[in-house]
Amino acid sequence: MTIYDKIKRTLQELGVSDAQGVEALFAELRKTAEQERAELVSRGAPDQPQRERFCKALRDRWLARKGGFLSQVDQNWLKPAGKELKPAVGRQFNELRRSSSGLEFEKLIEAMPLEPEVAKQMELPLASDSSRAAPRDLTLPGLHRPLGSIHPVTRMQREIEEIFLRLGFRIESGPEIESTYYNFDALNIPESHPSRDDWDTLYIDAKTVLRTHTSPVQIRAMEKYGAPLYIIIPGKCYRHDNPDSTHSPMFHQIEGLAIDEDITFADLKGTLDFFAKMLFGEKVRTRFQPSFFPFTEPSGEVAVSCFVCDGQGCRVCKESGWIELMGCGMVHPQVLRNGGIDPDKYSGWAFGLGVDRFAMVRHDINDIQLFFQGDVRFLEQF
Ligand code: DAH
Repeated sequence: MTIYDKIKRTLQELGVSDAQGVEALFAELRKTAEQERAELVSRGAPDQPQRERFCKALRDRWLARKGGFLSQVDQNWLKPAGKELKPAVGRQFNELRRSSSGLEFEKLIEAMPLEPEVAKQMELPLASDSSRAAPRDLTLPGLHRPLGSIHPVTRMQREIEEIFLRLGFRIESGPEIESTYYNFDALNIPESHPSRDDWDTLYIDAKTVLRTHTSPVQIRAMEKYGAPLYIIIPGKCYRHDNPDSTHSPMFHQIEGLAIDEDITFADLKGTLDFFAKMLFGEKVRTRFQPSFFPFTEPSGEVAVSCFVCDGQGCRVCKESGWIELMGCGMVHPQVLRNGGIDPDKYSGWAFGLGVDRFAMVRHDINDIQLFFQGDVRFLEQF
């Protein structure tokens, strides 16, 4: 007869008639409690909610007022015990109830080890006597692992890429550590030329820089693929800028480049207008203003009518009604030549935009630093 059966009977039914017999019964009971507890520990339970549920189940089994093992002992052993045995039973019973080695399941389970070994054991069937082992409860909640999300700058980048991919462009990339030849010379920015100063360059040595823009990949791609060429080039760029709310020494650009026969400024305007409408909504208008870049001729700055206030003036467009999007222009014939493409046969357009700035405008974020500080409270919002 197991102890679980014994607690359903009176001492008289069990034939226990002296203090020694009582002691032996309680010893058996204590041993069983300890075994159950040890078994629970060996099963392990790696996460807190699961541990709490196991712990509660065990406590209920033993300590529940109605039907718990101890209340059965009270009902069947203590209450009906004869005068001579009652003091012995009472003493043993109280000891068991208070006993620190006996029934402090809760404390013990809290201290349960969480090593991977234990977690692994969880996957195995119980090694001990299967008739007594409770079946594993498959309805217990699983482990909750918090999910990350895509960084807002990455998300912006992908959104822009998507639009150009649909137009038949391909994605190209190039090195972040770049030669002065690709970063400057091949883009029509000779060493002596003052426009080199427009890029606050981080030099590694006299001929090597951290690329200040994604434009050098224009040349690399022309060399690699020749014409016709339709690519966008997303990537990190670096400049010797002090970090503030609009500057970061590392930032992201996307370069666009289209080279083919008979490419005109109208193609550039049409493509960028389509792009702006896809990104900001059908309603927006684009504005092209003349500008200067050494690698494009003519060059332009593109702005889009504010998608928040529709050009009325608001915080996002700084009351101007317009949001500056990018620099662009027709690829300079010398740049085509530097890339090994014949400017008499081919022409092209190019643009360069700041992805971080796009993400700031899109989400009304006023400090670029927030993107790179890794503060979960900020990143969780996206
Ligand atoms: N590379 C320029 C910059 O970083 C941006 C740019 C302007 C790229 C005009 C272009 C372009 O391709 O045509 O400031």
